[in-house]
Amino acid sequence: MTGIATPGRARLDARTLRTDRWWLQPAVTATILFLFVVYGTWRAFEDADYYRAPYLSPFYSPCLTGKCATGSSDLGHWIPGWPLSPALLILIFPLGFRLTCYYYRKAYYRAFWQSPPACAVAEPHRNYSGETRLPLIMQNVHRYFLYFAALFAVLLSWDAIHSFRDPAGQWGHMGLGSLILVINAVLIWAYTLSCHSCRHIIGGRLRHFSTHPVRYRAWGFVSRLNGRHMQLAWTSLVWLVVTDFYIRSVASGGLSDPRFF
Ligand code: FES
Repeated sequence: MTGIATPGRARLDARTLRTDRWWLQPAVTATILFLFVVYGTWRAFEDADYYRAPYLSPFYSPCLTGKCATGSSDLGHWIPGWPLSPALLILIFPLGFRLTCYYYRKAYYRAFWQSPPACAVAEPHRNYSGETRLPLIMQNVHRYFLYFAALFAVLLSWDAIHSFRDPAGQWGHMGLGSLILVINAVLIWAYTLSCHSCRHIIGGRLRHFSTHPVRYRAWGFVSRLNGRHMQLAWTSLVWLVVTDFYIRSVASGGLSDPRFF
């Protein structure tokens, strides 16, 4: 027998003895994640208004297919015959990284599967096998998604640097979109470097930090970020939507991009 029916566990009829609003946090988490999935799916399939020189939406970066908007494919057309939205080719990587993230797992296990919904609140499931079997054992691929996430952080930094041009391609200019893209790149880097797997890669499996001073300093840096992993997960997620929505508004003509210089 496993789970809450395990011998030795207290036999309580009540699901929880907590009297605070423990349901609020999972409800808010579920709402925000649901809205993000709806928005992200809509934008990925919309296949329009993702580029207006010099801005490229992070949902469509890198744009690699033959039908990418003119000027949006800095890396070239790797898959010229792809018939669907270019976003569908690349979103699996950032999405896989977030879906398998240790923090997001906790968030959506609680919010959607109620496993458990909160501390000291019994879950509705009778059995618990954790992440020891398919499909949840696949969560272990997280460390590999980290490598792709680092690559995407480089690409989004590239997009942010390229935004310091005017619409005609001349360097040395800046608009509100440049600022939004820079903040996006910084938040993506901070979220990626704060990853638990990243922290382990940098400082794990060492017997003595004293003989690895560079790794020790790097480990100290990512450890400080790691302490804010939850906040970085949310702010970088929300800012992705802000960035995409801003570029969509500019690309569709609904907004004109204020130019600073
Ligand atoms: S643990 Fe959250 S991104 Fe790796």
